[in-house]
Amino acid sequence: MHIGMIIQSYSGNTLDVANLYKQVLEKNNHHVTLEVITTKNKNAQGNEPIELNHTPDPSLYDCLIFGAPVKGLSLSPIMIAYLTKMPSLKKKKAGIFITEYLPFAWMGGAKSLDQLSQLIEEHQGTVVYKHVINLETRRQPEKIIELIARCTDDF
Ligand SMILES: Cc1cc2nc3c(=O)[nH]c(=O)nc-3n(C[C@H](O)[C@H](O)[C@H](O)COP(=O)(O)O)c2cc1C
Repeated sequence: MHIGMIIQSYSGNTLDVANLYKQVLEKNNHHVTLEVITTKNKNAQGNEPIELNHTPDPSLYDCLIFGAPVKGLSLSPIMIAYLTKMPSLKKKKAGIFITEYLPFAWMGGAKSLDQLSQLIEEHQGTVVYKHVINLETRRQPEKIIELIARCTDDF
């Protein structure tokens, strides 16, 4: 089973969590490729239009994991731009996760998770699990590892 992890990260938090996912999945004998969506205009932090640079091809993988941060109470606009143009996932299974800073899911995490889930389902993907990882959880990597380990059978 070749798992493609497709993530976007401004400051490295989502990438750190993705690397934990990769470690756990590899321990469970999955073959994992981690790909980071990038933009031409250095992570498009401001209001300038998003020009995608590296756009991972989901068709290369048997199943997928998508991860992205919350930005301004909503899913990262770079992830939205990527998913909007993404080809059909043809019913592939997908796990999804969001990283956020604020402690409560209603401060952007829950909405971002819904947006990510909806965009994947609009592209005929099947979401098999969802996680929101806030700053407090990020400070306890063992909690994240435990959370991920519980999901490895979903693929
Ligand atoms: C411009 C900006 C807006 C943000 N908005 C939110 C927010 O609405 N809710 C939240 O919980 N975290 C918010 N954050 C925090 C990030 O979601 C969080 O630090 C995330 O883990 C960053 O991931 P990254 O390092 O992969 O980019 C914001 C961060 C930035 C820079």
